Amino acid sequence: MAPDPTRTTPWWRDAVCYEIYVRSFADADGDGVGDLRGVTARLDYLESLNVDALWLTPFYTSPQADHGYDVADYRDVDPRFGTLADFDEMLAGAHARNLRVIVDLVPNHTSSAHPWFVAALADGPGSAARKRYLFRDGRGPDGVQPPNNWQSLFGGPAWTRVADGQWYLHLFDPEQPDLNWDDPDVGDEFESVLRFWLDRGVDGFRVDVAHGLFKESGLPDVEGMTAAGETLDDTMSQWDRPYWDQPGVHDVYRRWRQVLDSYPGDRMMIGEAWVGTPESMARYVRPDEMSQVFNFHWLSTPFSAPALRDVIAATYAAVGPVGASPTWVLSNHDVVRTVTHYGGGDLGLSRAKASMLAMLALPGAAYVYQGEELGLPQVEVAPEDRQDPTWLRGGGVGRDGCRIPLPWSGDAPPFGFSPETAEPVRTWLPQPAWFADYTVERQSRDPYSTLAFLRFALARRREVVPGLSHEFHMLDRGADVVAFRRDGVDGAPGVTCVVNCGTEDVPVGDLGTPLVLSAALAESTGHLLPNSAAWFQS
Ligand code: GLC
Repeated sequence: MAPDPTRTTPWWRDAVCYEIYVRSFADADGDGVGDLRGVTARLDYLESLNVDALWLTPFYTSPQADHGYDVADYRDVDPRFGTLADFDEMLAGAHARNLRVIVDLVPNHTSSAHPWFVAALADGPGSAARKRYLFRDGRGPDGVQPPNNWQSLFGGPAWTRVADGQWYLHLFDPEQPDLNWDDPDVGDEFESVLRFWLDRGVDGFRVDVAHGLFKESGLPDVEGMTAAGETLDDTMSQWDRPYWDQPGVHDVYRRWRQVLDSYPGDRMMIGEAWVGTPESMARYVRPDEMSQVFNFHWLSTPFSAPALRDVIAATYAAVGPVGASPTWVLSNHDVVRTVTHYGGGDLGLSRAKASMLAMLALPGAAYVYQGEELGLPQVEVAPEDRQDPTWLRGGGVGRDGCRIPLPWSGDAPPFGFSPETAEPVRTWLPQPAWFADYTVERQSRDPYSTLAFLRFALARRREVVPGLSHEFHMLDRGADVVAFRRDGVDGAPGVTCVVNCGTEDVPVGDLGTPLVLSAALAESTGHLLPNSAAWFQS
């Protein structure tokens, strides 16, 4: 995409990026699984949302043991999702609509079907092929016990034994062997993969498990670690584990940054780095490393003013000292949907919309997960229908409930997700009948729908953000209220955002002209109702 000559900051700094979970976005070929041509067919919809960029989850060749996060060929498209030509068409269509495209890069592990792993098994202990992964001899008589006590994030031991007696490490599924980033082949390969997609024209990368990659030397046991009681969420946020946040990762991102900077047009990377302290988060976004890291603090925070104020303060404490811009995330394909997280029903939806307004008003970039614009709640998936390896490996109920194929139109499954056929297509995860109330078609007709609200908010955001300072200051409007103001620059008006997390109405009459409301103001007083938020311009 041609660089915009008037732009003084990189596009991603304040962009709104929409996450497309490709399997569940739109199915063009009628197999019940979303695909790239499905994305292309819906580009007008994506443009109409007023987002700036799309992030596509992995669509590469993959046995789908972890729905694409097990990559067997980093330079091709899985036939389920289409072809490289389909990708190019999608990318060109997105760029023609001024939508940037970020693809997912999975560097911590490959699929066990990747030619490197196949060779590692065939070539045997001590071979060069085996050194690209983390193979070790076991402990105990005849090495029958795993080399250490690490547990997989999806449940069960993080080691699997192969026929010749050695074990290999997989922090996730056994079909996702961890790479050995101390082997120079690995770094060279990923640089080449990066260039492959940059040459095709992508605008950036979302880096999966960016805090993984390197493991503490000697692979020490984790004190007290057992198979019981760990869930994916717990484990991702156990910062002090010897497989997270090791110093070696930063050289990788410095190298990648040089590659990105050698291309025109502000190519970027955002890391999925679940790290514990502001200082460790800041290390990933130093000027010569990642452009951004996801800020996951908000998505696990309750709808409470002190808690949200803490999240905002902690975020700035993290990125401020290194001059990086913050990111805001309410949900993604790994967590319970926001509406349900906030209590479900009308209450959950009101809070989700209010939180959305707050994150969209803060300086920095916002990431919106498909279905958030429809206010979709988490779906209860019957055990026999669940597909997530987390569930299949006994690591908990799994993440299927936030990954249900989107409802586009009509009154019955597949709700326009798949093409219409005489015998309705069965989607890879079943859609509940009540999705009929949430379709894009229905919400597009309703000016009070969640979809209409988000489209409107994003349109206003696009208008006002260029005239707003990157700074903000908190206002004191009471203990149960989150309020902050961004002043205008170059004579433009400023914007004040107020979120009412309490149980009493909040007076807001002095704050200026209402610009966006997550719910109507109280009719008689003009006050902001509980569980709602508003932007005021002045
Ligand atoms: C990331 C992805 C998740 C995947 C895991 C392993 O956390 O978001 O979906 O299961 O990495 O690749």
